[in-house]
Formats: sequence, structure tokens, C-alpha cells
Amino acid sequence: MTRVDTAQRSLQHWTEAGRAEMEAFYALATEDYRQLVQAADWPGLLASHVHDDWRLLDVACGSGKFPAALVRDADLSTLPPLPVDLLDPSAFSVAEAKGVLALPFVAGRELVVTLQDLPADLPPYDVVWATHALYALPVDELPVAAGRFLSALAPGGLGVVAQATSTSHYLAFYDAYRAGIAPVTPYTSAEQVRDALTDAGADVREQRIRYTTGTSDRAIAEGFLQRCAFDDAVTLEQMESAPILGDYLAGCRDGDRWTFEHEVALLWL
Ligand SMILES: C[S@@+](CC[C@H](N)C(=O)[O-])C[C@H]1O[C@@H](n2cnc3c(N)ncnc32)[C@H](O)[C@@H]1O
Repeated sequence: MTRVDTAQRSLQHWTEAGRAEMEAFYALATEDYRQLVQAADWPGLLASHVHDDWRLLDVACGSGKFPAALVRDADLSTLPPLPVDLLDPSAFSVAEAKGVLALPFVAGRELVVTLQDLPADLPPYDVVWATHALYALPVDELPVAAGRFLSALAPGGLGVVAQATSTSHYLAFYDAYRAGIAPVTPYTSAEQVRDALTDAGADVREQRIRYTTGTSDRAIAEGFLQRCAFDDAVTLEQMESAPILGDYLAGCRDGDRWTFEHEVALLWL
């Protein structure tokens, strides 16, 4: 049973009831998507896959922060409309992402399933991406998930996974939370996703980016960290006094200032 609890926690929190917690998280985590937009020539990459009937699969679409950041921070004005199929086991997430799509992105199919359960009979996609998406996917289901990701991609298509590495804040914090507060199952790291994709036969090129996020507002730090843990009942004070987690958080703090260190792998296929 404990094998799936982080997946269950994720599903329970990607709901209307988790909206306030989600919004608190994005007070800092919107930066993750700004950084991804800056990491590549997305207009050029997308332009090289344009054809009459082009389609994109957004795996674990969440609340659509990545396409929203692309529209905001990159110039996609020369691209024709791009139908986006939204995949996520949370119907709440699919509805949120659909609500923020703006040209060139237009809503396509709504696939309320996990990546592992992506139907095999869909026509292949020109672009498949999963951005900060696969943390709650159980590691023992990664081989199936990687296989589904690859088979969704048309020959010559553009595939990319953006995921934090094992030493990055999201993973290091969750490990410390697991050690200090609740022994839930771990998040899946970029390294594990990369290895699963490679084992499934993909030729993966890895690019890493590093940046920090931070705040001097204790309430913002608390809301962000609660969502990082899918736990809005634990206070920042409790986190700071917990074994191991307290040490981790002390290392993120300098006076009133909180700084979180991120390392993200972009896995290009
Ligand atoms: C942080 S959000 C992703 C953010 C999103 N890519 C964006 O641009 O805003 C994580 C999403 O992963 C979804 N998820 C969790 N487990 C999944 C799985 N096994 N397959 C696909 N999606 C999953 C969650 O429901 C949640 O909506």
C-alpha cells in the first residue's frame, strides 16, 4: 500500500480543495517555468515541427503553467494554431490547463489518465512534453510510463521532459520531509526518468539548468513548502523543528531570507 501513497497524495491535492495551496506554491514556483522558457529556443523548435495537422501532447498538464509561460515570455506569434491534448489523472488539472491555453495553443482532447495508462491507439504527436510533471509517478511504473511517452511521439518528433534532479530542492526537501515528518514514498527524479527513457530505447540528450527561488516573507515560504510536501496541515515551525527536515530548512535560511536551490534536467528526445 505504501508503494503508491505519494501518487495518492498528489491526486488528492490536485483538486478544487487544493486550489489555495496550489496558488501559494506558484508564488515562487512560477519561476520554474520562466527558467524553462529561457533554456531553449522554443519558437524555433516548435516552428521546425509545423505541418497542416500538427499536434502536441502535454503530459501531466497540471494547471498549464508551461504553455502559459511560453505565451507570456516567448514570441510564438508566427506559429499556426497548435492543438494540445491535455493528459493528467486529475480532471481538475485538465480543466485548469484548458482554461489558460492561449494562441497558438488550442485545446484538443482531454485525457484524464496517468501517463502509464495513455491509450495506445492515439495517432502519434509531433511534440510531447512533460514539464515538472513526473515527480509523483511511482518509480516501479517508470518503465511502462517511459514506453508510453516514446510510443506517443511521431518519428522525428520533439520530445522533452523537464524534471528536477535528485539534489535539487523539490527532491531534497521531500526526502527530508519523509525522514523528519512522514515516511511517504519518494518523488521520482530526473535521473530516474532519464534512465527509464534510455532503457526504453530513447536517445536522450541532457541539458541542466540551475537557479534559485526565494522570499523574505515567512507566509510565502510556508505555503510554498506545504505544497512541496502535499501537506497543508504542517506548519513551518513544525517543519523547522523536525529532525533532518529542520537541518535542511536551516540551510535554506539566512536571517529572514529563504533561498531554495534548483537544478533541472531537460531531457531532449
Ligand atoms: C506540477 S504539475 C505539472 C505542471 C505542468 N506541467 C504545468 O505546465 O503547469 C504535476 C501534475 O502531474 C500530475 N500527475 C501525477 N501523477 C501523474 C502520472 N502518473 N501521469 C501523468 N500525470 C500525473 C498531477 O495530477 C499534476 O496535475
